[in-house]
Amino acid sequence: MPSPNAALKDFRAVVITGGSSGIGKSYIELLAKLCPELAFCNLSRRKPDIINKKLSQLNLRHVPCDLSDRAQVAEALLAVRDFLGREVPAGKVLLVNNSGFGIYGRFPEPDAAQQLEMIDVNVRAVVQLTAELLPVLKARGGAVITVASTAAFQPTPYLGTYGATKAFVLNWSLALGEELRGTGVRTLAVCPGPTSTDFFRRAGLKEGSVPTMFGETSEMVVMASLEALAAGRSLVVSGWKNKVMTAVVSIMPKRVITRLAGAALSRFRMKRVGA
Ligand SMILES: NC(=O)c1ccc[n+]([C@@H]2O[C@H](COP(=O)([O-])OP(=O)(O)OC[C@H]3O[C@@H](n4cnc5c(N)ncnc54)[C@H](OP(=O)(O)O)[C@@H]3O)[C@@H](O)[C@H]2O)c1
Repeated sequence: MPSPNAALKDFRAVVITGGSSGIGKSYIELLAKLCPELAFCNLSRRKPDIINKKLSQLNLRHVPCDLSDRAQVAEALLAVRDFLGREVPAGKVLLVNNSGFGIYGRFPEPDAAQQLEMIDVNVRAVVQLTAELLPVLKARGGAVITVASTAAFQPTPYLGTYGATKAFVLNWSLALGEELRGTGVRTLAVCPGPTSTDFFRRAGLKEGSVPTMFGETSEMVVMASLEALAAGRSLVVSGWKNKVMTAVVSIMPKRVITRLAGAALSRFRMKRVGA
């Protein structure tokens, strides 16, 4: 199997969303470790606080951006174009669509506005950034990694809108990859299962709500995705237990798996923050 280092050889720039925590932060740390010459441009509301002596040379531009706000995304794209045009004018570009969040509750809890904000971050911003940056990627060569989820493989009652946003980006990434055959740009949809980040707390769940059985670290997810990129794959489910689980749910009747997922996810309600 080709190593991630070999696959990243001609890449010079990484444009990433959500590098301020969790999986996004691990992408920056691991990519910078594997390829110290990479330059990063991060879009998120908070600045990544990457304190690592080994990454003291880290070339990172932070562009503050709330991806749920179209105007801010348009403005951030100007900064990304400036970064690519002036700071890193040559070499392949890796776009990592990672930002995202979930909301746990009975739809539309907590309110419709937050459900729509989630669609804006998890879906609309992904489509907008990729559409705007695709001409550069085609001209210079590159890849688009989009972080979906194992939640994309079945309806997810109580996380209904979240799971649907991830089903969207999974299918969209696969379809885009097919359209891009022969252009020098590849796509990879990454499907992590439960991963130890801020995700569940931000979704409104208490620590320990989610069984750790399928749990992975963000570093494991990022390494699995870079190995998949090196192997030329268009989809990776991170971790063997998640692979088995998604394979099983994919062949089950939708009606049945929706019931089972609803029964499993409804138990999380007991542990909601403030419940
Ligand atoms: N953790 C899991 O179990 C799991 C499983 C499957 C898939 N995923 C997916 O993995 C991705 C990363 O999540 P994570 O687990 O690393 O969670 P996390 O630690 O909560 O990180 C989420 C990232 O998304 C960014 N983000 C959220 N809202 C944003 C907004 N309005 N504008 C810009 N950036 C925003 C955050 O940055 P700011 O707050 O600084 O803006 C943060 O960097 C998400 O797409 C998530 O759906 C996670």
